[in-house]
Amino acid sequence: MSSATDTAIRASFFDFKSVADQPDALLSAARYLEDGVLRLRDGRVIGLAPWEECSAELAGQPVVDLRGKLIVPGFIDTHIHYPQTEMIGAFGEQLLEWLNHYTFPVEAQYYCPDHAARMSAFFLHQLLSNGTTSALVFGTVHPQSVEALFSAAEALNMRLIAGKVMMDRNAPDNLIETPEQSYQQTRALIERWHQRGRLSYALTPRFAPTSSPQLLAKVQQLRQEFPDTWLHTHLSENPQEVAWVKQLFPERAGYLDVYHHYQLTGRRSVFAHCVHLDDSEWQCLHDTDSTIAFCPTSNLFLGSGLFNLKRSWQQGVKVGIGTDVGAGTTFSMLQTLGEAYKVGQLQQYKLSAAEAFYHATLGGARALDLDHAIGNFNPGKEADFVVLDPAVSALQTLRIGNSKDIWEKLFVLMTLGDDRNIAQTWVNGRPVWQRDAGEQAA
Ligand code: GUN
Ligand code: ZN
Repeated sequence: MSSATDTAIRASFFDFKSVADQPDALLSAARYLEDGVLRLRDGRVIGLAPWEECSAELAGQPVVDLRGKLIVPGFIDTHIHYPQTEMIGAFGEQLLEWLNHYTFPVEAQYYCPDHAARMSAFFLHQLLSNGTTSALVFGTVHPQSVEALFSAAEALNMRLIAGKVMMDRNAPDNLIETPEQSYQQTRALIERWHQRGRLSYALTPRFAPTSSPQLLAKVQQLRQEFPDTWLHTHLSENPQEVAWVKQLFPERAGYLDVYHHYQLTGRRSVFAHCVHLDDSEWQCLHDTDSTIAFCPTSNLFLGSGLFNLKRSWQQGVKVGIGTDVGAGTTFSMLQTLGEAYKVGQLQQYKLSAAEAFYHATLGGARALDLDHAIGNFNPGKEADFVVLDPAVSALQTLRIGNSKDIWEKLFVLMTLGDDRNIAQTWVNGRPVWQRDAGEQAA
């Protein structure tokens, strides 16, 4: 039975019906409907079916006709820094110098709530205009940075996870707090925002070098007090960083052991980068069911190294894709997948379009422990999706026209595509961004 509040959309659709533990399982999990209809009610999916099966039932009802477009689940960015939007593309440095020269001065501005509000709106607009409907987001050390971001995301009803940075050493004085302040401010934010609507909180110690043992003990305490929060940090991104952690924490077995010792590994723990892991660290990520955020454009831009995606499958470690703006160089998940492919090529690994789109959608949802809520078009899922225009330039039109099947089309989209290909973005069953309107419809 359909009701007056239902929405029906006719287009081509692509998603994955179920999660996969090996790349071989992706093809059987994939679903492609060249002419399908997606039905929504109250912000959720009722069902996805071939048009021919539903056309009689839908006769006389309004149908949003998007034939010629390809609809996929909203992209999920598993690692990004909203305050770094304004410094994307900063020249010449690798991680530790890049933080000191560019990042910290920019982040210091977020003491100002007006600045944070302006940049939150700008940031969310960038996400939506690139087809990203959910993200795991770093704020700055200032609680007001996260207040502003959550407020803006709540107005759009986005599913977003974010947290205030926690750091108490090896950063400028105006960005440092005491462990107790960090605990109190984080606790207050959790109480205000965690599990409010579609928002959730991530404990966000920046990384081991800016964390004293006392600060990490406070993070551990918060995790025990709020066990359903997320944990979001950086791990093993750059060789100098790894060496520094070993100097700062000689009593620990290695970089990951710093976090593991404070019980910060686990199902909702997301570690960005993981480029230079040793065998025992891979094993620990597997054993604790932790997640990696693979950030290809950032790892190339900062010269950090090549993430070993093949090994993550072999080790049974969940992976999501992160743009890592502002070390990453684009908000576009399509472009990020294209760069992930090149990172694979440099290691003789062929990242298929199936695998790439899996990581950007259902795989990312699973990596964030949100696959019960988002990531595909199964009934009951929250209706977050992207309407892709497969060809928006002469070159794309030529190349898509030469593509023999959906796999080739998806591969061309991740190779040549970008924000021009995002025709609409829907959140919770409503269009919140439309390319031709040029602004948020919400
Ligand atoms: N490690 C610690 N902080 C950061 C950051 O802001 N960006 C990246 N890419 N790595 C980090
Ligand atoms: Zn980062």
